[in-house]
Amino acid sequence: MLATTTLIFIFITTVYILLRYSTRKKTFPGPKPLISLPNYFFDTILTISNKKLRNNLLNIFFPESFQYTVLTVPLASQYYTSKYGDIVQINLFNQPTIIISNPDFADYILRRNGKNYTLRFGNPSGLEYLGMKNKGIIWNTNIQRWKYQRLNFFQKALNTKLLDDAKYVSNDAVDYILKYVEKYEVKKDIIDTMDFLRSITFTITCHLFLDLPIGTISIEKTKYYVNSVVQYFKAWEYFLLKPTQFYDETQTSQHEKSIEQLNNVVNELISEREMNNNNNNNCLFINSLLNALDNQQITKEEMNQCILEMLIAGTDTSSVTMFYFLLALCDRKELEEQLRRELKENSYETLTNGLKESMRFKPVGPVIMRCAINDDIYNDIPIKNGTNIIINLADMHRRNENFTLGNQFNIINVEDKDLSNTNNEKNVFVPFGVGPKECVGRWLAKVEMEIIIEKLILNYSFERANGTKTLEELQTRWDIAQQPTDPGFMLIQKR
Ligand code: HEM
Ligand SMILES: *[C@@H]1O[C@H](CO)[C@@H](O)[C@H](O)[C@H]1NC(C)=O
Ligand SMILES: *[C@@H]1O[C@H](CO)[C@@H](O)[C@H](O)[C@H]1NC(C)=O
Ligand SMILES: *[C@@H]1O[C@H](CO)[C@@H](O)[C@H](O)[C@H]1NC(C)=O
Ligand SMILES: *[C@@H]1O[C@H](CO)[C@@H](O)[C@H](O)[C@H]1NC(C)=O
Ligand SMILES: *[C@@H]1O[C@H](CO)[C@@H](O)[C@H](O)[C@H]1NC(C)=O
Repeated sequence: MLATTTLIFIFITTVYILLRYSTRKKTFPGPKPLISLPNYFFDTILTISNKKLRNNLLNIFFPESFQYTVLTVPLASQYYTSKYGDIVQINLFNQPTIIISNPDFADYILRRNGKNYTLRFGNPSGLEYLGMKNKGIIWNTNIQRWKYQRLNFFQKALNTKLLDDAKYVSNDAVDYILKYVEKYEVKKDIIDTMDFLRSITFTITCHLFLDLPIGTISIEKTKYYVNSVVQYFKAWEYFLLKPTQFYDETQTSQHEKSIEQLNNVVNELISEREMNNNNNNNCLFINSLLNALDNQQITKEEMNQCILEMLIAGTDTSSVTMFYFLLALCDRKELEEQLRRELKENSYETLTNGLKESMRFKPVGPVIMRCAINDDIYNDIPIKNGTNIIINLADMHRRNENFTLGNQFNIINVEDKDLSNTNNEKNVFVPFGVGPKECVGRWLAKVEMEIIIEKLILNYSFERANGTKTLEELQTRWDIAQQPTDPGFMLIQKR
């Protein structure tokens, strides 16, 4: 009797072990839960109205999701990267999520198999609040509509002629904002450098894409518009990921107002263009959008969202990057001298390297968020359709193997790194992403930043104001977009 029981027990155990072994799939490294609860428990926990209890339960049973509601995406991702390495798989809001700072895997997702990852992940209701759901190109979840709008409006407008025009437009935009430099003063000759640079890039964007020539928008309006963009970024970060159960009523309504405000700005810019009679039909972006609207190829909502996204993607990114470079120069007088010497001889090495290093050291896009739209496989490990991807660019760009002095601002780090890395397997530096969903504005960003910095640094000296921190000490908010939270005041003087 005992023998039979033992035999049956051994038999069942063997079958169980064999079954487990054969069905255990290869997965990427990452935290393994002590107790694996079915996914619907997650939704059940979310419905608990007692916040403290809800958070405690989440922290115990779904710790990774909890981390991402407490920390921003870059910070939570960095937490897992430091703990588990350059490839980590976690369970985030019930979706498998892979956090990557391995350059080969990043290249595989972004470029080699890029067509399998042309969407980004986000909370559908949050995207609805933002107006990004199924509209525009940045977070559009409709592949056909994303492709259509990216190709016919953004890529078509960003052609070589526009890049050429961008040179004189950038030059004139700097002159225009400099003429009113006192409007950016916080004290005599001390300016808010961030808003000053934002106004320059905003002016360029309006001229190149919206047919609003430099000077047609007053400085007061420009400052108001620029601030509307900054406020929209905050709303973007608030709504993008977290489940609606985490919303706070007051904050939600405040961010809704910011979204409405920027949408009103878009309408205002469209009507300002109409009042301006000598419209220039060469302005491809706005003209193609209006044509497509006339021919019912896009809706008015899609058109407005495309314009809104051009404003947010095209202005704050390059201005923040230039701000970091100017700040770095304030405390590196030799580098500044070297830069000025080269520029006077029409040589641009330090200029391009300095901008590259600013994007590496303080990336305005610290993470690239994507999701798989197809089943895929990497190193024999399956990646299921719907898997979320977070490329941890900030970490990848500081890896010791590929960046000699990764944790310092030093142009040595990027001297051998190329920005035109569209067809290279060995991309370790991709501040604009790469592949079918890469930054559409990468070449414009390069052109405008070079012209603006050259002009400013040849004609003006910049000095860190008392109380403004160095690049290393300056606090920044590491979120979907990375921006300084400390003031960036500088003494600006004509040379
Ligand atoms: C220093 C300047 C800039 C940086 C560092 C930057 C960085 C990035 C990054 C990392 C992405 C995500 C790419 C990916 O998913 O692979 C992106 C997307 C994008 N960028 Fe930029 N960008 C900059 C300037 C610009 C400018 C000037 C424009 C517009 C003229 C622009 C328009 C866009 C758009 C529309 C997207 C979304 C593309 C899509 O999802 O299909 N960016 N950018
Ligand atoms: C998508 O992934 C599958 C599976 O790895 C692969 O066969 C296919 O070529 C990929 N498609 C693209 C466009 O990369
Ligand atoms: C991937 O998942 C999406 C959403 O569930 C679905 O619409 C799509 O058809 C799937 N793609 C493939 C190739 O299975
Ligand atoms: C980056 O580091 C890896 C690992 O050491 C090395 O194999 C690769 O050649 C490096 N690539 C570049 C471009 O530095
Ligand atoms: C700035 O410098 C450039 C090049 O040296 C020069 O051509 C231009 O006139 C200067 N502009 C101003 C506003 O000082
Ligand atoms: C900072 O303060 C010192 C001492 O008061 C003064 O000499 C210097 O000019 C100030 N620098 C700036 C940029 O305001």
